[in-house]
This record gives sequence, C-alpha cells and structure tokens, in this order.
Amino acid sequence: MGKHRSILITAGPTHEAIDAVRYVANRSSGRMGVAIAEAARDAGWNVTLLLGPGCAPPRDGVTVRDFVSTADLAKLLDRMFCDCDVLIMAAAVADFRPAEPAKGKIPRSQERLVVEMDRTPDLVARCASAKKPHQFVVGFALEDPQDLQRRAHEKLRRKGLDALVANPLDTMGAETVNGFLCTADGQTLTPSGKKNKDGTLSKVAFARWLIEWVGERVSKTGKG
Ligand code: CTP
Repeated sequence: MGKHRSILITAGPTHEAIDAVRYVANRSSGRMGVAIAEAARDAGWNVTLLLGPGCAPPRDGVTVRDFVSTADLAKLLDRMFCDCDVLIMAAAVADFRPAEPAKGKIPRSQERLVVEMDRTPDLVARCASAKKPHQFVVGFALEDPQDLQRRAHEKLRRKGLDALVANPLDTMGAETVNGFLCTADGQTLTPSGKKNKDGTLSKVAFARWLIEWVGERVSKTGKG
C-alpha cells in the first residue's frame, strides 16, 4: 500500500522573530509529525518531512528539510507541494507574527513593550485550494474539548481539506493523543489500537493508524 508514492509531512512549531534575539513560538514538540513520517516510511511511502526548530528528526529513511518561520515553511510548500501525492500538515504554524521585527535587540529600558502582530497566511488552506484531483490533503486542529466535533468538521470545510485530525487543546506537547479523524464526506472516525487507561493512544500508534487509513483511502479513491 502506498508503495513509491510520495507523502509530504510538516511537523513542529514555527518561530517568528520579535527582534534579533527574541521570537514568538508555541509548545509543539513535532513528535506527532515525526511519528507519522516514520509510520509512512515503514509503510513504503517516499517521505519528505518539513521539520520545525528544536525537533528531533527521525533516524533514517526520511528526507528532512528544516524550517524556522511560517515564511520559510510557506516557501518550502510552494516548491514541494505540487510533487506530492499526500500532504499531512501536522506543523503548529503561527496564526500571527510580529508585523515588523526590530533590527537589533530591543532594550529593556522601556516600561512596556507592545508588539503588533499580523495574521499569517493559512498555508494548508492555500495548498488545498491549489490541489490537483489526485492529491490528498490532511490537516490538524487543536480545539477546545467543548463542541470539538462540530468545530472540526467546520474547519475541514473552511480549509477545503480531505480530512482533518482533531485533538483537544492539551494534546500539544503531550506524549499521547486523544483525537479523531473527520473526513470530507462527513464521517468521524476514532482510531483503533491499544488505548491507555484514560482512553488516549500513543503518538506512534495513532500515526500507524492514520497512515494505514490514508493508504487505504487514496488507493480506493484513485487519489495519491
Ligand atoms: N495552519 C496553516 N497555516 C497557518 C495556521 C495553521 O497551514 N497559518 C494549519 C496547521 O498546520 C493545521 C491547521 O491549519 O493543519 C490548524 O488550524 P488551527 O490553528 O487549528 O485553525 P485556525 O485556522 O487557526 O482556526 P482557529 O484559530 O479559528 O481555530
């Protein structure tokens, strides 16, 4: 399944410069995306991983390209998205970035610092709007546990995705996941695999389940 097909995976946080030494980041560890890259490699996919700052890369069998900021990741996706069959966008991309990073180091002599931020472009939505019929795009979402399913299906439609992995907010930086998969045809799927007592699943087990589902889905629909 998925032999020699190419999958592009993004993982980890972005760092957005405030000045020459400071940045705005988030708690993403990149472990979910790295686990997905390893599961895809083990399933025979040709894997490219776009990996954010401070994340431990997979040991072997995966082509890794590093990014730091949303702008770096946007450039990599502009170049590489058109050549992949599947994109799995697990990176925690900044929603806002400092409008004008200062050139040097902002001195602490002032009492208060106000940093103006601009909204970033939605990279996964941009890829989804440019996708060819054979391409399959999976996004991720962190949501308030309240109303998780409705919000997730709404986000999937808004971004034009084929599928969306929805997790409650506390998943970021955690060892385990407690999420489900929404599909463009309105299904909500919960992962199989050995669950922990609290109902969570290891990121590795979740990644294997996701890659198996993607492999089956793209071969059934002729996508990929
Ligand atoms: N994403 C992206 N580009 C951004 C922000 C997010 O491609 N600038 C992608 C993430 O990689 C992930 C999904 O969008 O696949 C996550 O979206 P999320 O941050 O949960 O939703 P938002 O678009 O930020 O919507 P909201 O803040 O309203 O929940």
